[in-house]
Amino acid sequence: MEFEIRKLTPDLAEDYAHFFDVTPHNVLTDGGKCYCVTWRSDDSYIGNGDHWFSTPEERRAHALQFVRSGSLQGYLAYYGGEVVGWCNANADCSLCIDYLRSFWPIEEYPEDVRVKSVFCFVIAPNMQRKGLATQLLERVCKDAADDGFDFVEAYANEDLIGTEDEFRGPLAMYEKCGFHTYAEREGRAVVRKALK
Ligand SMILES: CC(C)(COP(=O)(O)OP(=O)(O)OC[C@H]1O[C@@H](n2cnc3c(N)ncnc32)[C@H](O)[C@@H]1OP(=O)(O)O)[C@@H](O)C(=O)NCCC(=O)NCCS
Repeated sequence: MEFEIRKLTPDLAEDYAHFFDVTPHNVLTDGGKCYCVTWRSDDSYIGNGDHWFSTPEERRAHALQFVRSGSLQGYLAYYGGEVVGWCNANADCSLCIDYLRSFWPIEEYPEDVRVKSVFCFVIAPNMQRKGLATQLLERVCKDAADDGFDFVEAYANEDLIGTEDEFRGPLAMYEKCGFHTYAEREGRAVVRKALK
C-alpha cells in the first residue's frame, strides 16, 4: 500500500492532534489518549515524577505546544488525505530516554555521537499489518543518515505484540530493517542501526 510519509513540522500540529483525537490507541492500558507526550522526562512533566499529564485535554494542549516548538519530532503517515500512522523519532534524547534508563540498558552517549531515538508507533487499527510501521521506520533511517546521525536506536521487548508495549515496535521489524540487538537485559533489547 502506498502511504505518504511527512516529517512532523509545526504546521502539521493540528493534523497530529486530530489523529490522536480520532484514532483508537493505547487500548491495552487505560485507553486514555496519550498524544505521545508521556515519554518526556523534562520539566514539562507535572506532579510527583508522574509522567502522565492529568487529562487528555492537557496532554493535547502540551502536544500542540511541543510540535509547534519542534521538541516533539517524528513522522506522520497519510492515506487518502487522513493521518493513519505516527512514529515518534526524536533527535534530542535527553528529553526522552532518561526514564527508560531505569529499565533498558541504554548507555550515555559521547557528546560527538548523534543518536536518533525511535520511541513509539501508532498505526490506525484498519491500517495495521500493511507494512506501514516498516515504511515509517525506513524513512526515519533514511533521513537520519542524510542528516548525519551516527545511528538510529529503539527500545523493544521480546514478544511485545499483544502487550501494552506494542507501541515500541516488534523486534522482527527492526531486524528486517537492518537493526541488531546492541544490549539486552531481562527481555528488553536496545536495538541499533549504524548509519556510518
Ligand atoms: C505494533 C504496530 C506498531 C505494528 O505496525 P504495523 O504497521 O502493523 O507493522 P508492519 O505491517 O510494518 O509489520 C512489520 C513486522 O512487524 C511484525 N508484526 C507487526 N504486527 C504484528 C502482529 N500483529 N503479530 C505478529 N507480528 C507482527 C511482523 O514481523 C511484521 O512483518 P511481516 O508483516 O512481514 O510479518 C501496530 O500494530 C500498532 O500501532 N499497534 C498499536 C500500538 C499502540 O497502541 N500505540 C499507542 C501507544 S500509546
